[in-house]
Amino acid sequence: MSELAIEASGLVKVFGENRAVDGIDLKVPAGTVYGVLGPNGAGKTTAVKMLATLLRPDGGEARIFGKDVVRDADAVRSMVSLTGQYASVDEDLTGTENLVLIGRLTGHRKPAARARAAELLEAFGLTEAAGRQVKNYSGGMRRRIDIAASILNTPDVLFLDEPTTGLDPRSRNQVWDIVRAIVKHGTTVLLTTQYLDEADQLASRIAVIDHGKVIAEGTKGQLKASVGAGAVHVRLREADQRPAAESLLVSTLEAQVLLEADPVALTARLSGESTEQGAAEHAARALAELARAGIVVDTFSLGQPSLDEVFLALTDRTTVSEESAA
Ligand SMILES: Nc1ncnc2c1ncn2[C@@H]1O[C@H](COP(=O)(O)OP(=O)(O)OP(=O)(O)O)[C@@H](O)[C@H]1O
Ligand SMILES: [Mg+2]
Repeated sequence: MSELAIEASGLVKVFGENRAVDGIDLKVPAGTVYGVLGPNGAGKTTAVKMLATLLRPDGGEARIFGKDVVRDADAVRSMVSLTGQYASVDEDLTGTENLVLIGRLTGHRKPAARARAAELLEAFGLTEAAGRQVKNYSGGMRRRIDIAASILNTPDVLFLDEPTTGLDPRSRNQVWDIVRAIVKHGTTVLLTTQYLDEADQLASRIAVIDHGKVIAEGTKGQLKASVGAGAVHVRLREADQRPAAESLLVSTLEAQVLLEADPVALTARLSGESTEQGAAEHAARALAELARAGIVVDTFSLGQPSLDEVFLALTDRTTVSEESAA
């Protein structure tokens, strides 16, 4: 078995009556990106803070490369770095000043700190902005300087708490590239996110958490498979035929049907079918029934469920119609 960078068992944090983290187990193999996925208030930040020694657990235990986060907190702190959901660099300092300051505080001599700062600013596309105060940075630049600050001393484990929330697509892609580069250097990354596509892009394993508990864990393929054998995606010509298509798919496939935001699209999740052939036969039958009912289908595809569907199914925040339309 590969070495574990992070190992948590039965981790608990209680705020008053609220069990914010309610018995979380995690095993994160060294050298990988691990995704912790969950909606607002699921307990992601609280869990990460305990793993990074910023909060003391009320129950359970956690180790970073074998060191206990409570008993060996100093050893853990020397290995980990956290880029918080809320930025941590000094607004009034420039990009260069922030990085040099962190370098000096962590024991680098001035020339070494300056060289490392310049190298990171270059790597993060911030050379031009290096002399500007951070308060004048855009959101994407701000996130990049935060991540640069947290990897100034290459950590063994980097916690990235929602690194791309609120960023535009281009800035998100830049952050993703940075994460991939960090992992290539051997750092293990635990990334929290509310975005399924982010976990899909970066993480090799994912834990889905909700209400302080891990409700599913595995590789992306395993999570998708856990929701069913496949999904039939249908796009109709006419939006007003969707209710008829929905009830027809529910009755022919005995499937859960998800109405997409796009008014001509719907997705049927095939549940009982374990074999691909079974799923394909069902899909063919559904297509024939739709044609017979005079419902015009523009595109039709059979695929694995998307991580979005997995997430919605697992966190139960969905508009799935489970029964045949009455
Ligand atoms: N210091 C605190 N005192 C009291 N309650 C807290 C504290 N920190 C978090 N909580 C509560 O714990 C629960 C989990 O919060 P947490 O910040 O870990 O969620 P999250 O998954 O990071 O959410 P988000 O996606 O919004 O960042 C929430 O109900 C929150 O209100
Ligand atoms: Mg959070």
